[in-house]
Amino acid sequence: MPLLTIDSPVDFSYDPYSDEALRDPTALYRQLRRRYPAYPLPQYDAWALSRFEDVWAVGEDPERFAMDIGPVFDPADLARSNGGSAPAPRTFSTATSFSQLDPPVQTTLRQGIGTSLRPRAAARWEDEIRGLARERLDALVPHGEFDLYTEYGGLVSAGVICRIVGLAPDRAAEVLDLVNTSLRRKPPGPAEDTGPAHHALHHLLVEAVAARRADPDADPVPAIDGLLRTRIDGEALTDDQIAVQLATVVSGGTETVPKVVARCLLELWRRPEQLAAVRANPAANCPPAFEEAMRFGAPLQYVGRTATRSVDIAGARIQAGQRLFLLIAAANRDEQEFEQPDDFRWDRPIKRHFAFGHGLHFCIGVHVARLEGRVLLEELLTRIPSFGLDESRALVPPSDFQVGHIRLPLVVG
Ligand code: HEM
Repeated sequence: MPLLTIDSPVDFSYDPYSDEALRDPTALYRQLRRRYPAYPLPQYDAWALSRFEDVWAVGEDPERFAMDIGPVFDPADLARSNGGSAPAPRTFSTATSFSQLDPPVQTTLRQGIGTSLRPRAAARWEDEIRGLARERLDALVPHGEFDLYTEYGGLVSAGVICRIVGLAPDRAAEVLDLVNTSLRRKPPGPAEDTGPAHHALHHLLVEAVAARRADPDADPVPAIDGLLRTRIDGEALTDDQIAVQLATVVSGGTETVPKVVARCLLELWRRPEQLAAVRANPAANCPPAFEEAMRFGAPLQYVGRTATRSVDIAGARIQAGQRLFLLIAAANRDEQEFEQPDDFRWDRPIKRHFAFGHGLHFCIGVHVARLEGRVLLEELLTRIPSFGLDESRALVPPSDFQVGHIRLPLVVG
């Protein structure tokens, strides 16, 4: 079989920003995996990769697949082709987050934040997460109905993130709202009105950094303290630069976990025998159920990379400078990796999945995410012996970025 090139004709139509792909890409992803594991998108000088092995291999090869304009493509950037050349390495500036950079700067910045999110540090948040979850349930359960995303998981998640980045937990509602607004999409690309929310969030974080600098004897804030000690080319970071790194943690960690928790409860509720099985021992059974919800309904649709040289992958010749959409949700339903991948099974043995990414940019918040997911599920299932979900009022806005419920009403009893 000759290798596909970017101009090869294809007899099947796919565009990551089409209505169909944004509404429910599951059937399209199946076709892609079977017929075009590397699908040419000449309109973006890009390829879509859908098989697990391929996206995994790209994830762990930062030399051949760099960040450049990734990890979330802006159509304005996609419109600028690299014209067959390797992209120049992205340089660190005041507004650049480590999630958009390649090593060595990405690695240095990541290490600066990392101590606050490593397994032992993350485990210390458990009591706080449980306390927040219980507080929410105390307030919500008596109403008989509440929203799983905004009123339960979202507020707990935002409260935890506030603590991680040195903001008072009572700012959780404000932070949740700012994150939701700043990440709003109008595919392809961000919605038009996200600027003020970005600025407001940045401002809050600059204040948190300044407060920490001004009072070194206050309680430690490991995420800020690590970045205050970080040096890039021998230079300390400014408050603005630190705030940009923290904003990535806030954005990455606020709306993702509650979406997965909502999805997990929805899939369990649709399958009463599975819900009963998880309920039988929530402490033991919520972690695998959360992991299966990650695989089955990963919120992040893709991560982007750019080829730094010409490379053959998945039957295609990818030229230097071309972009790659690594389709997370397609890879996580790959029948070569998972048995009957379109079935949700809470106790499925999962060796690996791609919902937290892979390689150098592997989700830095993974330990917090798993802990939060487990506690949110466990507390809710223990506190509420029976519930229904009102799918008629559920809301999943079309997005090329973080897909998931932003409204899912739960009725107690
Ligand atoms: C279920 C929840 C989560 C999901 C599905 C998720 C997903 C991901 C994925 C796929 C990546 C890789 C991006 C890439 O390869 O370019 C990533 C990176 C990242 N995540 Fe998460 N994440 C979650 C929770 C969190 C939490 C709780 C935090 C913060 C506490 C967080 C912070 C970050 C950051 C800062 C990065 C960038 C890391 C880097 O580029 O080195 N995430 N996440």
